[in-house]
Amino acid sequence: MQINPKIIKSHFEKSMDKYDENAIVQKFLAEVLADKTASIKKDYDKILELGCGTGLLTKQIKEKLNFKSYTANDLTDKSKKYLNKILKNYTYIAGNAQKIAPNSKFDLIISNAMFQWFKNLDEVTLKYKNLLNKDGILAFTTFSKENFYEFKKITNLSLDYKSEKELKEILEKNYEILKLETYKKTMNFKTPLELLYHMKNTGVNSLSKSRWTLSEVKDFCDKYKENFRKTTLTYTPILVIAKKLD
Ligand SMILES: C[S@@+](CC[C@H](N)C(=O)[O-])C[C@H]1O[C@@H](n2cnc3c(N)ncnc32)[C@H](O)[C@@H]1O
Repeated sequence: MQINPKIIKSHFEKSMDKYDENAIVQKFLAEVLADKTASIKKDYDKILELGCGTGLLTKQIKEKLNFKSYTANDLTDKSKKYLNKILKNYTYIAGNAQKIAPNSKFDLIISNAMFQWFKNLDEVTLKYKNLLNKDGILAFTTFSKENFYEFKKITNLSLDYKSEKELKEILEKNYEILKLETYKKTMNFKTPLELLYHMKNTGVNSLSKSRWTLSEVKDFCDKYKENFRKTTLTYTPILVIAKKLD
């Protein structure tokens, strides 16, 4: 299923204050993404970060990479409040990263835990190729098919996640893949209600369009307990670092 960016924006804005303490997997991915990108190349003139949120990845990039200019983007303007605490100088472009139109090119385009929301990965990865300088790098994390399988089993709600193979096929049209790694992280909760709060506090509850009623919440919790012995939520991230083809 595809989610309207307006809904994603509204859910993330509501989660921002609680995001950092709840986004355990996203934080892990931000660290790994910055480390792995640095292991390929540490110095970049111009960096563009897409979907910067509260700046978990921004902090890691500041620590681990060298750059001359930084441009950050998110659907919401509210990210600036967080980025102002991390970076002294940066350019901010608010809006949909699929439609972004910066007035210069970049050496690194990087994004953590955001590409899964994109409608057409073929189109955006081509767009980003055209925004990269020669030998420019596209580095991102996203999630594969099995992501949140527990939630999908109960609600039948899921994003159109790509498999590792599908992702590879899309990227190879315009990039040389330097790294493609998969991970699996399972989070444990005391109750299904706690799981739902975790999803809300990390903004990933955009999967359900409207506010759930009390009886829908109860129904979810009951069904969860019928289907699973333990309360878990499994994240299946994919990390990609790719170099633009000529
Ligand atoms: C899971 S959060 C990740 C935030 C941050 N990258 C991190 O590492 O914690 C996803 C972020 O992507 C943003 N986002 C989702 N779709 C977007 C789009 N189409 N364009 C720009 N930002 C988007 C959301 O507003 C949210 O801040």
